[in-house]
Amino acid sequence: MTEVIRSAAALRDRVATWKRSGMLVGVVPTMGALHDGHLSLARAARAQSDRVIVTIFVNPMQFNNPEDLTKYPRTEALDLALLEAERVDVLFAPGPEEVYPPGFATRVSVAGISEPMEGTFRPGHFDGVATVVTKLFEMTQAGRAFFGEKDWQQLQVVRHLVRDLNMPIRVIGCPTIREPDGLAMSSRNVRLTARERAVAPALHGAMQAATAAIRAGTAPAAALAEARGAVLAAGFADVEYFDLRGAEDLAPLATLDRPARLLAATVLGEVRLIDNIAV
Ligand code: PAF
Repeated sequence: MTEVIRSAAALRDRVATWKRSGMLVGVVPTMGALHDGHLSLARAARAQSDRVIVTIFVNPMQFNNPEDLTKYPRTEALDLALLEAERVDVLFAPGPEEVYPPGFATRVSVAGISEPMEGTFRPGHFDGVATVVTKLFEMTQAGRAFFGEKDWQQLQVVRHLVRDLNMPIRVIGCPTIREPDGLAMSSRNVRLTARERAVAPALHGAMQAATAAIRAGTAPAAALAEARGAVLAAGFADVEYFDLRGAEDLAPLATLDRPARLLAATVLGEVRLIDNIAV
């Protein structure tokens, strides 16, 4: 039975009881509309912690586009049923006033790594993420936190945050879960029309082709230009970025001289799709 908790005070009491018994608490922060990607994180948390908290909070502070916030799918009853099946102990689903009470004035900002890519196209986004993640870590008092590699830049921002602020929590990155045709699972995928859904896997296809070309010795700039062209030719409306970067510091790479990641953000119809793969 998954217990639903909405207040930070009640959550703190529940966690304090667990911790008195020496239990290790794992947290999976989410914004709900759960899919197999989230459930894989819950399973990893279940395997690596004594007690599992999944949080669902559609965080207004990380949305730079008000329409995106309004349209973000909210499916709590369905989400709860899925979490029950994964034997999650607590669903922490606070309301906006619980997280941001009147007079809330703090902003957590991770300089540098937050600035390129998502930071450029979604100004303020990572301040919202870093602020809410800091609050969720404080509220849950978890010892382990599970994040998907799908949001690779977010994962690096959170790792940086935890290191910089000496937070007593271990951040565990879990592999991206994909549909059989390669599309990375995302809560936004339900907003694709049938035609767009058929086009969407072209993004992963272009990333795989670029990766193969770079590994085979093609200059990254040429491989990235080819990939951008392939995505636009498939029917995407825009490619915001398609970059080769150092896997951890996210510095742009002109040559493949260290562990790297290909990262892209695109627009298909009205939906923004991001993805990344190791090179
Ligand atoms: O990845 C997400 O769903 C969100 O950015 C997170 C980490 C739950 C913070 O709101």
